Amino acid sequence: MGHELKTERELSLDFLRVCEAAAIAAARTMGQGDRKYSDQVAVEAMREVMDTVPMRGRIVIGEGERDEAPMLYIGEELGGRGASDDLRAEFPEVDIAVDPLEGTNLCALGANNAIAVLAAAERGGLLNAPDIYMDKIVVGPSSRGVIDIDAPVRDNLKNIARRLGRDIEDLTVIVLDRSRHKKLINEVREAGARIRLISDGDLSAGISAAVAGTNIHALMGIGGAPEGVLTAAAMKCLNGEIQARLIFDPERLGVDKDKVPEQEEVIARLKEMGINDPNKIYDTDDLAPGKKIIFAATGVTDGALLRGVRFFGSGKRTHSLVMTTESKHIRFVDTVHVEGGPDAVIRF
Ligand code: FBP
Repeated sequence: MGHELKTERELSLDFLRVCEAAAIAAARTMGQGDRKYSDQVAVEAMREVMDTVPMRGRIVIGEGERDEAPMLYIGEELGGRGASDDLRAEFPEVDIAVDPLEGTNLCALGANNAIAVLAAAERGGLLNAPDIYMDKIVVGPSSRGVIDIDAPVRDNLKNIARRLGRDIEDLTVIVLDRSRHKKLINEVREAGARIRLISDGDLSAGISAAVAGTNIHALMGIGGAPEGVLTAAAMKCLNGEIQARLIFDPERLGVDKDKVPEQEEVIARLKEMGINDPNKIYDTDDLAPGKKIIFAATGVTDGALLRGVRFFGSGKRTHSLVMTTESKHIRFVDTVHVEGGPDAVIRF
């Protein structure tokens, strides 16, 4: 069967398949205690399905450089497998950020909130962020425009509370449980807000902050920069906001100098990537400038927004989130992957 040209909306369903495949593969390894292996199978499954998507895809945020990552490395081109050159030339050019398993430890331990995730956009639509740390503040639509990453924590919380029509005491802030966040945690506590400390997974936490009803009102603190770009792509679809800044100063990270690359080395690498101001404050549009963004995520383990993969005799069931900036549709997709022939029983 030949390939046909697809609209962006249809492409989002292809990306749904991609995330579902990665989540299923990773979920099979849940609780095995081997985070690297969980990540590896998610990467392999994601790449295999992604290569069938009718696009001229290019990985802009992936598993690292080509020599350290055999698959989904930054710069890898994929998509349109099996299509003729003529047809391929007509496929859309797409930049892709992937995190085949966000929360490798969570999956390895069978803990909540591991997801398989990707974002796609037209060429240049996603910042080519380095794999270093990033300080972030993420809020939902009601609090857009009143946060400032450089403002005291109390001021941000006061503004978020005002926009949500409640007291600071009624807010819940998610923070990664890391020693580098000691000061931040103290400041949130002193301001009176409640805190949920998480062991991993600040991307799904950021998404929760942008969705009303999760009882999460902000994400604050330092996590990965690639996760920051993926969060920004999600915020574009959810009308939320992220402000962020790259962090590579060992003091801010609370680690010994020899645990992170020399600052001069990082600054030189950033320059090579076109980032001349390493202290720049990025907003949602800087991180994900694309006009046509697709964001897809599938639950690996159960979480605040997505259920994890469930396996049963005649198949498996996945729960995903798919959104595009163009359509402004936020789809929660519950898929039963039927196996086992005509007698397979479909469960509700
Ligand atoms: P992995 O999926 O790569 O294991 O990352 C999980 C994570 O918790 C991210 O959500 C977060 O941004 C980052 O790691 C924080 O890094 P660190 O564990 O080094 O503090």
